[in-house]
Amino acid sequence: MGEKIESVQALFEHDLKTMLWVERKLADEVLPELREMVHDADLKHDVEHHLSETKAHVRNLERVFELIHVKPEAEQSEVLKGLRKQHDEGMKMISEDDEALRDLFHTHVITKNEHVEIAAYNGLIELAEQLGEEDVAIALRENLEQEESALRKAEAASRKLLREEVRA
Ligand SMILES: [Fe+2]
Ligand SMILES: [Fe+2]
Repeated sequence: MGEKIESVQALFEHDLKTMLWVERKLADEVLPELREMVHDADLKHDVEHHLSETKAHVRNLERVFELIHVKPEAEQSEVLKGLRKQHDEGMKMISEDDEALRDLFHTHVITKNEHVEIAAYNGLIELAEQLGEEDVAIALRENLEQEESALRKAEAASRKLLREEVRA
């Protein structure tokens, strides 16, 4: 449990620390693991691409901490932890031979995660604007735009895999 949150500024810093944890976890563990797990070549490419974007998200957030003169401490996200657990459990239920269904499941989890990131950045941007931190808002918007494009790609990959699955 961290310190008390009693202002918009404190709420912003708290949410920012949680997002730093999320982006670092995605960049260092989740996306590299996912890249090895997926079978479909296009999906693998998308994960690879978003991994490199996610590394930039971490750097961007670290820059935001510099801009507001706050130490870049990370706070754990129960949402990402829960999503990860749900993913691991689902994977155990799908046969290792059923590559297409496993990939389809991956795309659904990716989609959920991008929605979570998008909601988090929208909230952060709103707070940054309220605090008059325009440079911070600009940096956060860069990340947001890439999450939105990752979401669209994951949805397209999901539709493609589903079409293939239905045809098979
Ligand atoms: Fe991200
Ligand atoms: Fe993302």
